Amino acid sequence: MINISKTSTLKDELLRNAYLHSFFLYRNCFRVEILSINRIYSFPYLIFDLPMLSLYIHIPFCASKCAYCSFNSIPTNSSDILIDEYMQSLKKEIDYYAATLKDKALKTLYFWWGTPSRIWVGRIIDIIEYITTKFDLEELAELSIELNPYPETEVLDFVRTLNKRYPKISRLRYSFGIQSFDDEVLKLTWRAYSFGGIVEFLRSLVKLKQDNNVFNFDFIAFGKFLVSKNWHKQLWHEHKRDFLKNFLNSWYVDSISLYTLEGLKEGGQEIREQEIREQEPGNSKQGINIYHGDDEEIMEEFLILKAMVEDAWFGRYEISNFARAGKASIHNMVYRNMEPYIGLWLSAASFLPYPTDPILLKNIRDNLFPSLASAWQSLSAWKALRRTNTWNMKQYLEWHRIDEKEVHTLDDSDLLIEEFFLRLRTRAWIADILKFASVLVPHYQWLLSNYQWAWLLSFDWVQLRLTDEGMNVYNSIITDLLQKI
Ligand SMILES: C[S@@+](CC[C@H](N)C(=O)[O-])C[C@H]1O[C@@H](n2cnc3c(N)ncnc32)[C@H](O)[C@@H]1O
Ligand code: SF4
Repeated sequence: MINISKTSTLKDELLRNAYLHSFFLYRNCFRVEILSINRIYSFPYLIFDLPMLSLYIHIPFCASKCAYCSFNSIPTNSSDILIDEYMQSLKKEIDYYAATLKDKALKTLYFWWGTPSRIWVGRIIDIIEYITTKFDLEELAELSIELNPYPETEVLDFVRTLNKRYPKISRLRYSFGIQSFDDEVLKLTWRAYSFGGIVEFLRSLVKLKQDNNVFNFDFIAFGKFLVSKNWHKQLWHEHKRDFLKNFLNSWYVDSISLYTLEGLKEGGQEIREQEIREQEPGNSKQGINIYHGDDEEIMEEFLILKAMVEDAWFGRYEISNFARAGKASIHNMVYRNMEPYIGLWLSAASFLPYPTDPILLKNIRDNLFPSLASAWQSLSAWKALRRTNTWNMKQYLEWHRIDEKEVHTLDDSDLLIEEFFLRLRTRAWIADILKFASVLVPHYQWLLSNYQWAWLLSFDWVQLRLTDEGMNVYNSIITDLLQKI
């Protein structure tokens, strides 16, 4: 995550996952307020009006647990019986949405988190085909898949098979989590490969690239430097930096994501150890011992990597994302533009213009969710709904996937906050700054001109956007500007 200079716990909590989707940023800050009855009865008309949808599928399975990962992924084998049981529930969830959104056109389909290759490519194809029978994929703009490059042969086989199967999809995007070229960092974070393994993997991968592919590669700045005898500090060994330069200048890299290590500071390490023991009973790994730098060193590494990426002519289109022209992630833009998306499977989040979730609404009306039902009475106007599926596998399998506490309705002011928050993360100008005046702090104009003097944003009293330097301290700026955070 990008530099946080503030220390407030609430702010830290809200900004904790800034590299993730806005849902996580806001999950604790919105009131739960729910539903007016006339809206429930008007829903068929509103569903009819829905623009294109996006789907994302949260894969909660990985080969093993990485030390810095805060997602509740389950270490598993592709033969694991649990996956089949879980696949049935996923199909049930797809049916559930298809009941009201049958044949709706999909804009993007995204397999996110975990390691999709772990559940075996045949199952991923099965899911895609199942979705094809329920939704319209004719105009699908992007099918995107996140992959941990380990186990290498499994991942290469995954890419080969999917490429062969879907040569006609307009964009088949793979995002590979490389994370670092430092073997010690990889080992300490329990990534199961080394720099040598990555080099071999990339050599094989490049041969698989086909016309409709977009290859993205993720890196994390851990703030770890090599220090020579005369105290000269450098990032990685020279041959690795050279490799990165050549790699970035090669034709097969379309985009790069650069993150700053998040979640291990201020006691986070102990919390992660506890979480890992709970998720992986009998875990023999004794404690997390990730070497990482302080905030300054993490930022220093981020800036070194960023300079290398920009030297290779990648443009920064969001705080953590860089791409060649026309290769930015379409799915990311769905989030940033606040277009509707449905998240399927464990702990997946959805953003839905009301009311696309009739069963949820019926449950509320039938008083099955008491906390939401009482809020229903004191309702004020709201426009959209964000919610997350349960994080509990047992509950999910038993079809109790809607967690009452994780249903958040957004009124006009919430939506304005989100819009400002999300638009400021991109390079697009915010041309209608007055529109956001009601959610900004009263002295926002004074703050904006101060930031302008500090070269952190470009602002001409009508429109604004962050400068490159401003993006590096986005969290501090947004915290200062918005009333509610
Ligand atoms: C959806 S995640 C995981 C993708 C894939 N499972 C993997 O591990 O390669 C996408 C990216 O978020 C970044 N990420 C995950 N946890 C992070 C953390 N604690 N701090 C910073 N970046 C993180 C990593 O670069 C990761 O590749
Ligand atoms: S492979 Fe990715 S999702 Fe799985 S534990 Fe590691 S970082 Fe988390």
